Amino acid sequence: GWRTPYLYLYQGFWCQPAEIQAISTFQKHFQAKNSDIVVASIPKSGTTWLKALTFAIVNRHRFASSKNHSLLTFNPHDLVPFFEYKLYEKNQVPDLSNLPEPRLFSTHVPFPSLPSSMKKSNCKIVYICRNPFDTFVSSWHFSNKIKPGSSPQLTLEETFELYCKGVVGFGPFWTHMLGYWKESLERPNKVLFLTYEDLKRDIYSHLKRMAKFLDCPFTLEEERGGVIEELIELCSFEKMKELEVNKSGKSIKNFENKNLFRKGEIGDWVNHFSPWMVEKLSKVIEEKLGESSSIINVTI
Ligand code: PPS
Repeated sequence: GWRTPYLYLYQGFWCQPAEIQAISTFQKHFQAKNSDIVVASIPKSGTTWLKALTFAIVNRHRFASSKNHSLLTFNPHDLVPFFEYKLYEKNQVPDLSNLPEPRLFSTHVPFPSLPSSMKKSNCKIVYICRNPFDTFVSSWHFSNKIKPGSSPQLTLEETFELYCKGVVGFGPFWTHMLGYWKESLERPNKVLFLTYEDLKRDIYSHLKRMAKFLDCPFTLEEERGGVIEELIELCSFEKMKELEVNKSGKSIKNFENKNLFRKGEIGDWVNHFSPWMVEKLSKVIEEKLGESSSIINVTI
């Protein structure tokens, strides 16, 4: 067998023992409300950014000017907590019933494994998908920073071979993407499927699209008053990276916030992939996603 980075297959996806424990508590106890908003992704797809954007859209009326915005003093992972890390970790069952609505949550759990109340209710899910080339590179850098010594150190090539077999946290990546993609086609009012690349290329119209989907569209007055530009700026990579809380804080246990902001670009994979890797991952994408390959935004 191969050396795996302490991942186990749970309900068809790969994760660590502590995550399995938290996810099963979450599945058993969480009661969704129709007004809930959930940010979903596979790790390193742009979760932090999407959390910031979602929080900014939903809470924009509470902040007369951006000077007092929570996004300037908190990390997005504090504002939009993960079910499987923050809320349900170590078997704890938090009382979430009195949180102000809309409640904002997030998860890396694949769609079919979400608690049934979440699937049945009209709560909204915003999903972010990033091209697997860049997601792989981003996870590679991140895992080298967070766990020196705590799991077997694999080479880039070994990690890549596992990635292509689907072995990566919450993977296979194709199952993860397809699960949310299919649901977004069947229930467009429930799941909004976004890509990191689309957001990078045209954040303005995607922010408007998100606000509309979340039932709080921007008014003409807001648009003319530059509110959209203000929120985009507040959530930008450069701005967030420079915040005090992201230079020294820890919003998810053991993870230093500063590691959440590396390059924030499209296409850094060209600096890490050799020709055989490009060929291999392209083939995997073609095979596993088939007709749906176009959901992945990658130019080779
Ligand atoms: S996590 O741990 O799953 O929540 O990580 P995640 O946020 O999904 O992915 C981290 C990558 O997203 C980049 N990033 C951003 N891009 C654009 N804008 C903003 N504001 C932003 N914040 C984080 C981050 O740099 C990671 O990508 P790479 O390619 O490694 O730089």
